[in-house]
Amino acid sequence: MSWIKEGELNFLEKITANILKSGPMPKHVAFIMDGNRRFARKKNMDRQEGHMQGFNKLADTLRWCKHLNIPEVTVYAFSIENFKRAKDEVDGLMELAKQKFLRLLEEKENLEKHGVCIRVLGDLNMLPLDLQQTIAEAVVTTKTHDKCFLNVCFAYTSRYEITNAVREMAWGVEKGLIKSSDVSETLLSECLYSNNSPNPDLLIRTSGEVRLSDFLLWQTSHSCLVFQSVLWPEYSFWNLCEAIVQYQINHASIQKARELHREHQALQQEEADSACVAEHLQHHGNGKPADAQRRQEALLQYTSCREERIQDFLDALKHKRDSFFIDLCSEAVVA
Ligand code: FPP
Ligand code: MG
Repeated sequence: MSWIKEGELNFLEKITANILKSGPMPKHVAFIMDGNRRFARKKNMDRQEGHMQGFNKLADTLRWCKHLNIPEVTVYAFSIENFKRAKDEVDGLMELAKQKFLRLLEEKENLEKHGVCIRVLGDLNMLPLDLQQTIAEAVVTTKTHDKCFLNVCFAYTSRYEITNAVREMAWGVEKGLIKSSDVSETLLSECLYSNNSPNPDLLIRTSGEVRLSDFLLWQTSHSCLVFQSVLWPEYSFWNLCEAIVQYQINHASIQKARELHREHQALQQEEADSACVAEHLQHHGNGKPADAQRRQEALLQYTSCREERIQDFLDALKHKRDSFFIDLCSEAVVA
């Protein structure tokens, strides 16, 4: 089964999609694809078959999202917690991922035609080396595609991602690229694995569980959360539409909360900058108070230096991350 399924929606689905599209649509949807093993038990199949059907459902869902003009999807495919499962299940999931990423590489032309960019979010070091290399190849191959984005969270948890972002900022301070006073909510967001994506508008969890299970905790503080009882392999176009309706009902309040948060963030940054500048002026002005014009000039100079410093740090971080993937690809060629 391929990642990209061709095919139109049927008549009824098309009409429904058009009605939904006349309202506000989510641009980024995240899925916790839960319930594969319960589905397998219900159907008397083995666990691995449940996960395979789960993958097939992901391909269906991507096709629906494409028809609904949803350009970005993020899925929880394997959490760091999942390593604690039985060895044969973990091995099975690694094998399934290997197979599917190899399949993806066979579909390069199709991915290019549809402009699909695949990103993998998580700590790839935790995975077998051959899988790391296959994933890196898929990521590097599709890196410049820009019509739709699939973010696969693999060896991922949100707390790990946030901790890693804090470590990256500590690395920046240690290397002298940034100052500890540059650390902010905005900078932390830029250091997350998800730094290339807008926050999800809608997060959907299937199987009736009503927890986030350490998935995108930072990114979903102003997202619409929808919990559905259907098991993931049984997910349907209609389930997706129902979740989108929930998003549309809550759209105005979500937008308002986001706007308030943006204003609050800007204010926080302004206050932090003013405090740094005041301290600097006091230090260099022999204790004499600076006039308003001097303070304004110093503030402008300070913010422009900070922005430049942060941009250099983010470029260095991007280079480090890109090199990780590129090195894995070249190791694979040598091997
Ligand atoms: C949760 O169901 C599902 C997983 C832990 C694995 C999800 C993986 C896929 C759908 C395949 C995707 C593969 C790639 C390569 C993207 P569960 O196992 O927790 O089932 P349960 O809740 O019924 O026990
Ligand atoms: Mg589960």
